[in-house]
Amino acid sequence: MSTVIIRGNEIAEQIKEELRIDIAQLIEKGITPGLAVILVGEDPASQSYVRMKGKACEELGIFSQTIIRPADTSEEDLLDLIDSLNMDQRIHGILVQLPLPDHIDENKVILRIDPSKDVDGFHPINVGKMLIGEPGFLPCTPHGIQEMLVRSGNDPEGKHVVVVGRSNIVGKPVAAILVQKKKGANATVTIAHSRTRDLASITRTADILVAAMGSPKFITSDMVKEGAVVIDVGSNRIADPSSNRGYRWAGDVDFEDVKEKVSAITPVPGGVGPMTIIMLMKNTVISASGTLTNNIYSN
Ligand code: GUN
Repeated sequence: MSTVIIRGNEIAEQIKEELRIDIAQLIEKGITPGLAVILVGEDPASQSYVRMKGKACEELGIFSQTIIRPADTSEEDLLDLIDSLNMDQRIHGILVQLPLPDHIDENKVILRIDPSKDVDGFHPINVGKMLIGEPGFLPCTPHGIQEMLVRSGNDPEGKHVVVVGRSNIVGKPVAAILVQKKKGANATVTIAHSRTRDLASITRTADILVAAMGSPKFITSDMVKEGAVVIDVGSNRIADPSSNRGYRWAGDVDFEDVKEKVSAITPVPGGVGPMTIIMLMKNTVISASGTLTNNIYSN
């Protein structure tokens, strides 16, 4: 059986072309979508994500402001910055790159973002809307996974999706999105995690396996069913002296081991990562257009 490689970078390119049309229409109406990205500290992985977000804005003609603050920035200063961006008419989306330094309360920061500018979909108002199936900003990685599945011909409807990992950024929301009674969803969902007993016996029942636990190469071929679809959300930076950057990216799936057994699999890099970024662009455009129902799977 030949395995399909689900190339997130190619699907993201398609969505980018769709967004170009929406952005041109907004600009004609005198609206330039604007995104502010805040980075506190110097975490190298976060620095590279923030750079990629700025680059994506530039390529699409989205106004972008990248605001970098030192690691010892006070919580109060960060909250003041969010207040000013909430008021800024040029800014339609605000993203605070996570994780934040330990002295800053992440939940307090997320709560301060105006839910109508919360393009990350992390504010409890948007999390609640997602759970009850109301239109709201959907978090970028989970929404990107749904788009990838549907656009690659792997509609989750009726399938058993096993999500490994229960983070607020990926595991919990991807389960909430795929279980909805909606087009592009309607899946039977199981969430497994580090305390799950006999994990492999559960992952082997998955028609679609979403690996989002943050452990490099954790999912091996004995953990997947023949013909399953595997979505690898892992982006682990592994030290690699043979690379001139000194590191390489590894997913949560042992790609070479699993590849032959499954019907389709996402690579790392070039899989889920580019989807996250393009869904952020999409949320920013939706925010600027003021039409939150403008979400293809919202009905
Ligand atoms: N850190 C890891 N993923 C994300 C994300 O999607 N958004 C933000 N803000 N921080 C992250």
